[in-house]
Amino acid sequence: MKTLEWKDNRLILIDQRKLPDSLEYFQCENYRDVIYAIKNMVVRGAPAIGVTAAFGVALADLAGEDTERAAEEIRSSRPTAVNLFWAVDRVMKSGSPLDEALKIYREDMETNRAIGAHGASIIHDGDTILTHCNAGALACVDYGTALGVVRAARDQGKNITVICDETRPVGQGARLSVWEMQQEGIPVKLIADVAAGYLMQRGMIDKVIIGADRVAEGGVANKIGSLMVALSAKRFNVPFYVAAPLSTFDRENSIYDVEIEERSPEEVLYYGGCRIAPENTEVINPAFDIVPSDLIDGIITEEGIVDPL
Ligand code: MRU
Repeated sequence: MKTLEWKDNRLILIDQRKLPDSLEYFQCENYRDVIYAIKNMVVRGAPAIGVTAAFGVALADLAGEDTERAAEEIRSSRPTAVNLFWAVDRVMKSGSPLDEALKIYREDMETNRAIGAHGASIIHDGDTILTHCNAGALACVDYGTALGVVRAARDQGKNITVICDETRPVGQGARLSVWEMQQEGIPVKLIADVAAGYLMQRGMIDKVIIGADRVAEGGVANKIGSLMVALSAKRFNVPFYVAAPLSTFDRENSIYDVEIEERSPEEVLYYGGCRIAPENTEVINPAFDIVPSDLIDGIITEEGIVDPL
């Protein structure tokens, strides 16, 4: 099963809140279910959010609901990944939301294969690649961006080891990227986020590849913690790449004008269901940070490797 599938006029999602312990599915029967799924991270990752949002408009259309209103509500489900806005705009401009959503769905898979092929050209046999968060199949329809590059390099016969940052507070690295690599039989090791700098200092990382929620003038917004990884990579001369489709590029805004989502304090206060700080502790929980362009060696897109904006 892919991360999301359209079946019998419903959208079926892998429920990513339940991974890695159980593989369960979440059905979206209307656009309100889609909004719930995006807000609560049943589905997450910029390209997957975009495709899901597109099907949300299609569900509203099929039910004869006001698509303008549905689109507006879907747009406000999460603020940072530009793919959401890009996909909603695309289906709204098309005459046929479902056909357009299905087109975006198919394109996403082709795009990721192309990103993988371009990215694999810079990967050497024996490389150890550090990644942050999950920019894998689970963040897209299938295959992935950063982890798509790993898959493509492996398919070329290269031996690759992946190091996953656990990616506190939600744990997308530990829960999702590790699971994905284990399913693929690609060697993978988990580290605490705070260990990334030390591994780079010790020469244990050959390259960093992460995904992006938005590429804009001045840099890239991606999962919180990406900035610290990029700073360490610069200090220890580890090449730092972002893998992202062109649908993640926002050519209208500066990256510093983009809204960085602030999520619930509970995500930081609790770990694996256990509270790890005193009750009533004040929390700051930005979900993303910004990697400035000068820390990025290249952005791997479906059209080749390009400079940051
Ligand atoms: O909060 P999330 O899990 O949606 O954040 C996801 C990321 O930050 C990914 O790195 C990004 O969306 C790229 S996914 C190909």
